[in-house]
Amino acid sequence: MTFAIAFPHIFRRFTATPNRVFESQLIREYSWALSMDANRLKVVNGMDAFLMQEGSVREDENVIGNAGGISTLPLYHQPVLTSEVLHYLQPEKDKIFLDGTLGGGGHSESLLNAGADVIALDQDVEALNYARTRLSGFGERFTAHQKNFREFPEVLKSAGISGVDGMLLDIGVSSHQLNDPARGFSFMHDGPLDMRMNSSEGRTAADIINEDSVEELERILREYGEEWSFRRIVKAIAERREIKAFSSTKDLVDVVSSVMPRHGKVNPATLTFQALRIAVNDELAAFTDFMNLVPRWLNPGGRVVVISFHSLEDRIAKQSLLRFSTEWNDRPEWPEPRRNPEYSMRLLTRKPVEATAAEIKNNTRARSAKLRAAEKSI
Ligand SMILES: C[S@@+](CC[C@H](N)C(=O)[O-])C[C@H]1O[C@@H](n2cnc3c(N)ncnc32)[C@H](O)[C@@H]1O
Repeated sequence: MTFAIAFPHIFRRFTATPNRVFESQLIREYSWALSMDANRLKVVNGMDAFLMQEGSVREDENVIGNAGGISTLPLYHQPVLTSEVLHYLQPEKDKIFLDGTLGGGGHSESLLNAGADVIALDQDVEALNYARTRLSGFGERFTAHQKNFREFPEVLKSAGISGVDGMLLDIGVSSHQLNDPARGFSFMHDGPLDMRMNSSEGRTAADIINEDSVEELERILREYGEEWSFRRIVKAIAERREIKAFSSTKDLVDVVSSVMPRHGKVNPATLTFQALRIAVNDELAAFTDFMNLVPRWLNPGGRVVVISFHSLEDRIAKQSLLRFSTEWNDRPEWPEPRRNPEYSMRLLTRKPVEATAAEIKNNTRARSAKLRAAEKSI
């Protein structure tokens, strides 16, 4: 029996076989992206899947015949706020976009499907491998590079590009990174205490925990984790590393749990892990560097969209965009307001845009996502 499966902006046809099981999460994501009414979806033969019968394809959608064409790639990451990203970036043919956080390529795919070309970056080679496979059908319209997004001008310069029509950052870690114990990002799985997004360079979380001074560890937990109990946790870490060096995520979870009570479902090591991840990947400085470069590299009318997942990141997004969109600065000691030399953008979001209840229901990660956008105006 032939069905059509919904992807953002395209439908692919495939033949269902009785024992074929599709990832319900993947299907749900795509159905959400199309804002399809739940009763247009069907659970077929008790399979854990939602399939649309061919006859129910919307007439205004482009149907791409692709026999057996469902992707066999496992779900890498479910992107958040996809329709909001498209709303603010306005991708179309002959526009070129920079996706600084390629991940599983979900956002890039939506931009490509809308006709735009995409230059994408990720510092994680696993993301690049996955997304290159997923997006291979777009040919030269899609290129991907292993780079930190703070270094994006190098990539644009070497491609002979002097400005782009849009930029997207969807920061943080992907579900794939979080769920792979070998990457050491999660307190939920035991694995090496690593946390590097680029596994081939820099210090691991274990290096920091085992080598840095007590004062530095306290600073990391206080500033990057906003962890109130930073002193108590670092004291326990320092005592433990005198006896035996940390090597696994479980080592760290056990030590933090030994001095921190558990509150409800929240793991006591949550903020410690967040803080270390930020330190290992120098996340806040990389994001600040990126934001400072945005106005120079946007074409007139070009737009930037940033999605962040905690208050430290959102503060950087908010303050940078406010700086670029404020025409006049004033201080009590100045006789009169002065024109802001950085003024070059128009704010498109006064308040951060958040996910709808429907999206959060399908993707709990969307709960803490905050999107901000601005346009290059001069
Ligand atoms: C939340 S995921 C992005 C998901 C993506 N938008 C999608 O649709 O699948 C974040 C990705 O950004 C990458 N990343 C985070 N910080 C980075 C940086 N400074 N430079 C380059 N890549 C970075 C991570 O390796 C991860 O793959």
